[in-house]
Amino acid sequence: MIKRIAVLTTGGDAPGMNPAIRAVVRYGLANKIEVMGVFRGWWGLINEELKVLEHRSVSGIISQGGTILKTARCPEFETKEGQERAFNTVKKFAIDGLVVIGGNGSFTAAHLFGAKYNVPCVGIAASIDNDINGIDYTIGADTAINTALAAIDNIRDTATSMERIFVVEVMGRKCGFIALAVALAGGCEEVFIPEKPFDLEEACHNIVHGNLAGKISWIIVVAEGAGHAEDIAKKITEMTSLETRSVTLGHIQRGGRPTAFSRDIALNLGKAAVDCLLKGEKDKAFGIVNGHVASVDFATAIKKKEFNLEGIYSLIKTLT
Ligand code: F6P
Repeated sequence: MIKRIAVLTTGGDAPGMNPAIRAVVRYGLANKIEVMGVFRGWWGLINEELKVLEHRSVSGIISQGGTILKTARCPEFETKEGQERAFNTVKKFAIDGLVVIGGNGSFTAAHLFGAKYNVPCVGIAASIDNDINGIDYTIGADTAINTALAAIDNIRDTATSMERIFVVEVMGRKCGFIALAVALAGGCEEVFIPEKPFDLEEACHNIVHGNLAGKISWIIVVAEGAGHAEDIAKKITEMTSLETRSVTLGHIQRGGRPTAFSRDIALNLGKAAVDCLLKGEKDKAFGIVNGHVASVDFATAIKKKEFNLEGIYSLIKTLT
């Protein structure tokens, strides 16, 4: 019998975490469960930083990026001592289940903690990188892509006007999803991602040939895990003698008002996570699969994501 659950946000924040918190709190209350909010992710569980959230605790947050619960990356939770302290908090506050809103690292921790201490944990997939295996869409990815795309559209205006080559760095240390999505939607000429080796000489060869044929501007998107915009821009100038500029979009991609899509999936996933605990299920992450709310076991979710990057990549190249 579930009487009290706790919700936490961990790892990198993603726009839409707040609507997810709102859904967990209000759907929990509608089902006569008390919901506690844990501050700063696992750190808050270790250090007893948590409080009961009321209906009105989550008023007005639906349109806000970030997370009202704060978030952190918490190496202390990888230690035995950290985990024991977190479990003591779970016992002390009679928490019957945890809703963990986050990405890969968060689910890895929840999977281990849940099994070791027999604490029911469910996940809500939230990551701008959209890198959860078995899940098509995570909370925040759509917002981040649209933020990056708005910047790229602006850059295209100046790139075209001044006839320049721009290298634009987007987030994604291990995953090129944002880079591919914005390169396609932004009509960019080239994209470099961590999952695929790239050939700068070939790109420069194409630029020089295009330039001789009258092409005046390029936008090259690079995911941060594939290289840095500034270095790549310098190399392109060295190899082509053409003027380049570089822009690093950085953390602006993590903030901002969640899009309707990021909010809607967050609200649905929040409900699904609470339902899962109510049914006595655990150890799974919820996300959008084939357009619907679905879950995958944590063990699957934390594996390296398989996605059809070749399909998007070749479409970008074909349409250039
Ligand atoms: O949350 C994912 C992410 O934004 C990655 O795309 C990026 O590489 C990383 O987090 C940056 O992390 P931090 O904000 O800790 O520097």
